[in-house]
Amino acid sequence: MTNSQIDEKPLKALLDEAYEAFDGSDELQAYMKRHDVESASILTVTNDETASLIAAYLAPLIGGKTVVEIGGGIGLLAFHMGLYAERVYCIEANPIWSSCFIASLLANKPKRVSYLFGSADEFEGQIHGDVALFCTHSGIKSMKATATKFAPVVLDVYGELIASNPDAFNPTARRLRAIA
Ligand SMILES: C[S@@+](CC[C@H](N)C(=O)[O-])C[C@H]1O[C@@H](n2cnc3c(N)ncnc32)[C@H](O)[C@@H]1O
Repeated sequence: MTNSQIDEKPLKALLDEAYEAFDGSDELQAYMKRHDVESASILTVTNDETASLIAAYLAPLIGGKTVVEIGGGIGLLAFHMGLYAERVYCIEANPIWSSCFIASLLANKPKRVSYLFGSADEFEGQIHGDVALFCTHSGIKSMKATATKFAPVVLDVYGELIASNPDAFNPTARRLRAIA
């Protein structure tokens, strides 16, 4: 997948609309509570370039492997990981992000990448990976605990990135992350 394959204009419009309609809404908060989702509904991977860079960084760790991504947002990282991994399962509980995923799905879905809508615990025991990972700055503990149920190796992607190059990240953000 190259940077030009996702048409980012309609995707951005869809995301803006979704944030406008649902961000902080009682309905969404009640849904997340019902489904035991603790992280904030804030995407960190919303464009091809970011997804492509993260996937390239992960390539040596996921090459030829089955990857389970917990809380995959709109699925862009999963698309890009599909370039390296043998298979990618992207699990996302938030129905709003899955609707945004549809925007890029029709034109771009690669084989070997599947998007599973629902809370990860619904798939426990049915999906098994070599590596389970997540990209988030919030709810890290809960995401890690969930990931361990899907694979023997767990990657906290931003934790890894920060550890590999701490100076490239804002010190306050680094400290806050430790308690997120
Ligand atoms: C902070 S967001 C990040 C989304 C995406 N990884 C990104 O970086 O754009 C965390 C996401 O994880 C999802 N999530 C958290 N716990 C989950 C679980 N147990 N099962 C499925 N999705 C989960 C949330 O719905 C949310 O969309």
